Amino acid sequence: MSRKIWVFDTTLRDGEQVPGAKLNLYEKLEVAHQLKKLQVDIIEAGFPASSAGDFNAVKEIAMKVGDTDNIMITALARAVKADIDAVYNSVKYAEKPLIHMVLGTSDIHVEKKFGKSKNQILDIGVEAVKYAKTLLPEVQYSTEDASRSEFEYLWSTIEAVVKAGATMINVPDTVGYAVPEEFGELIFKLNDRLKNLNEKVLLSVHCHNDLGMATANTLAAIKNGADKVECTVNGIGERAGNAALEEVVMALNTRSSFYKANTNINSKEIMNTSKLVSSLMGLDVQVNKAITGDNAFAHSSGIHQDGLLKSRDAYEIISPTEVGLDDMELVLTARSGRHAVKNALGKLAFNQLTDDQFEEIFADFLVLADAKKEVYNHDLYIIVEKYFERHDMNEEIHHHSENFYELLDLQVISNTIFPSASVKIKKGDQIFKSSTTVASGPIDALYSSIKEIIDIDIKLLEYKISSVSRGKEALGKVKLQVEYKGEKYIAKATDTDVIKASALAYINAVNSIIVDNLMPEINKEPIAQSL
Ligand code: KIV
Ligand code: ZN
Repeated sequence: MSRKIWVFDTTLRDGEQVPGAKLNLYEKLEVAHQLKKLQVDIIEAGFPASSAGDFNAVKEIAMKVGDTDNIMITALARAVKADIDAVYNSVKYAEKPLIHMVLGTSDIHVEKKFGKSKNQILDIGVEAVKYAKTLLPEVQYSTEDASRSEFEYLWSTIEAVVKAGATMINVPDTVGYAVPEEFGELIFKLNDRLKNLNEKVLLSVHCHNDLGMATANTLAAIKNGADKVECTVNGIGERAGNAALEEVVMALNTRSSFYKANTNINSKEIMNTSKLVSSLMGLDVQVNKAITGDNAFAHSSGIHQDGLLKSRDAYEIISPTEVGLDDMELVLTARSGRHAVKNALGKLAFNQLTDDQFEEIFADFLVLADAKKEVYNHDLYIIVEKYFERHDMNEEIHHHSENFYELLDLQVISNTIFPSASVKIKKGDQIFKSSTTVASGPIDALYSSIKEIIDIDIKLLEYKISSVSRGKEALGKVKLQVEYKGEKYIAKATDTDVIKASALAYINAVNSIIVDNLMPEINKEPIAQSL
């Protein structure tokens, strides 16, 4: 039988502790609304005693997001009256409020941080819980640095605070020191004693990622009886971050027969949440990050693409659609093998090529892929059309490439008053020029100029620039996402000139839209019928 695991999201508290990631009230509210869509069980909305701004944000979230009994709203307090009051006065507006307090249990915390005896600290914790219970029925007690605490003292603390009324006990691996086997054993022993003491009290874990084991430790805890997990979106948080919500949730979903546990998370909202948190906090997601990284579902090697085309489960354990992404798309690069290129050509209706024809086209593909890094469908059209031209077979093909745009030249001027841009773009035999003078920045000017020529109503959803090599010859990579008639298109381009890469990425996106809108015609009348 599958157990329900509670998901406590601390993106807005532990996650917000990342330097530079502070959000304003409206941004916090937006993230909290998205966490509600994701269906987390508890949102930790902040640390209200830290500032008036944080207090107000927690209060707004309690009022506007906690207006239902499907979700609990909490915030963090130290085990002192003023902090507990601040939490109570901000979360009390929620339908289901919770007070969360933290106090260390390791010798390092008790003796070095507080300079007190273990008994003194234990008494402070008990008194704090008793006080919190006069305010709200639900109180969580976190035994900070639990994984480095002496076991019997840790247990006496838990026993005492449960007797004082704590309804959730959180066991943090505050410094990411634990290893899965040891942490699992700790949770097993604590859970055994806790459930004998009071079976209604939830046992929770909060793992940090200093040794890269936050997710593994969290899962080991679940395997050993933990009822609740504390996580953040994209694994952000203090230092190396916290257990990533998406990793824990997808591990439980994908390996359900092993863990025999499930969450209430709507996994289809994972990517939306990840993107929102990343863009509002200005924290890029590592490209190879499990589940939410750009490459998490991208298959690039020829061997893998070939295997996937034969049977998806050869290299895919999670369908991208499960986390809210579009279905699998094989990115064509110089490493793609013949099978992937043939498959892409087939989808464009070039599906009756002879072996010799395909080999010549594949050789052209490799030359272009080396130069361009990623090859798009419109590039494949151009390659095939050039092949037809070379072999005097022009009449046998529709000339779709005359619908595609090509950047010929550009000039962009950045200044504080009127950033401006001029572009020269080719479409078939026609050459267009345009200039924009009023814009909010050089990229806005550039895209406005391109838009004046390209008469397609597209909306830019995301624009990301990153460096892919170092030194004077460093390449800048631009990745963007646009929307056209409700469909989303991702395009990239790489160049030593990031402005040029920005223009090329935009034109790649436009050409992808054009290809998609040519498809119905192609499906009716295959281009390569005569081959
Ligand atoms: O890492 C930690 O110990 C914490 C507690 C407040 C739970 O963040
Ligand atoms: Zn933490």
